[in-house]
Amino acid sequence: MTASLPLSGKTALVTGATSGIGLVTARELARQGARVIVVGRDADKAARALASIQLAAGPEAPVHVKCYDLSLLQNVRALAEELQQEISQLDILINNAGIMPGRFSLTEEGHELSWATNHLAPYALTNLLLPLLDAAGQARVVTVSSVAHWVGEIEPDREVRNSPDKYSWLTAYADSKLANILFTNELAHRLDLTGITANCLHPGLVDTGLMRPGTSPVMKALWWTARPLMVSPERGAQTTLYLATSPEVARVSGRYFADSRPARTSARAQNRTEASRLWRISAEETGIE
Ligand SMILES: NC(=O)c1ccc[n+]([C@@H]2O[C@H](COP(=O)([O-])OP(=O)(O)OC[C@H]3O[C@@H](n4cnc5c(N)ncnc54)[C@H](OP(=O)(O)O)[C@@H]3O)[C@@H](O)[C@H]2O)c1
Repeated sequence: MTASLPLSGKTALVTGATSGIGLVTARELARQGARVIVVGRDADKAARALASIQLAAGPEAPVHVKCYDLSLLQNVRALAEELQQEISQLDILINNAGIMPGRFSLTEEGHELSWATNHLAPYALTNLLLPLLDAAGQARVVTVSSVAHWVGEIEPDREVRNSPDKYSWLTAYADSKLANILFTNELAHRLDLTGITANCLHPGLVDTGLMRPGTSPVMKALWWTARPLMVSPERGAQTTLYLATSPEVARVSGRYFADSRPARTSARAQNRTEASRLWRISAEETGIE
């Protein structure tokens, strides 16, 4: 039955696919016939995501669940190793998992939580999966950034980034989303002349769990103020799906999109020196080049 679907024969991995934009993305890719690997950190949520994807795509849809907390690099490595044992190629990698923690914390590996989850994890996962992406011939890496990058700035000094005194949850989030764009630009540059493209996007202001925990009163107030302007996760997933599947962008790489169109970024996000400096910092902090 799936033989005529547009993505049959393709394998896609979506991080943070247990809720929000990622869940819709995984569901739509499965509906279009892709074999989908759902990555989440919570086993119950992952089981519910699997059930809802199979309800939409059919009980036989090839959907696999992997439970890993990606804020830890040891888990990113374990996930990559498991995938290397199980699949021979990866056609679509969607770096979607993201967090806006609302308060300062360090992971047990000593990285600020939003930096670890939103930037180091996609940096590490993408690099570790490059052999599988390469094996696909034509592969796409799509990273979910944000319009918040406009106020982001990359702090090169890890000690400063890890200092609770200097911490602001909004800045930490914005910095990690700027890192998503700089990472994409550098990746696209490094993968030029290969069959792998790398693009990133702002999904819109989307009604998801991202700001809902509201650990900070300011965050709660922001969420209630912004809520009437928010779009559904179904709409929020459209640009990700466009970049992952549309023939229009098969050869486009190193671009930032919103509403399924190329969009403007901050000048900082286009700075080549910043992009290569971020790559160097990320390689040092992850031990992965
Ligand atoms: N919502 C917006 O308005 C908006 C705007 C711009 C950009 N974005 C970006 O869109 C992406 C998706 O966010 P969303 O809005 O859909 O929020 P969401 O509903 O909270 O989804 C985030 C997903 O990431 C997962 N995740 C978080 N930390 C993780 C970790 N350490 N390991 C593995 N998975 C983890 C979450 O798992 P749990 O379900 O277990 O928490 C969830 O599945 C994020 O990158 C976000 O920055 C969102």
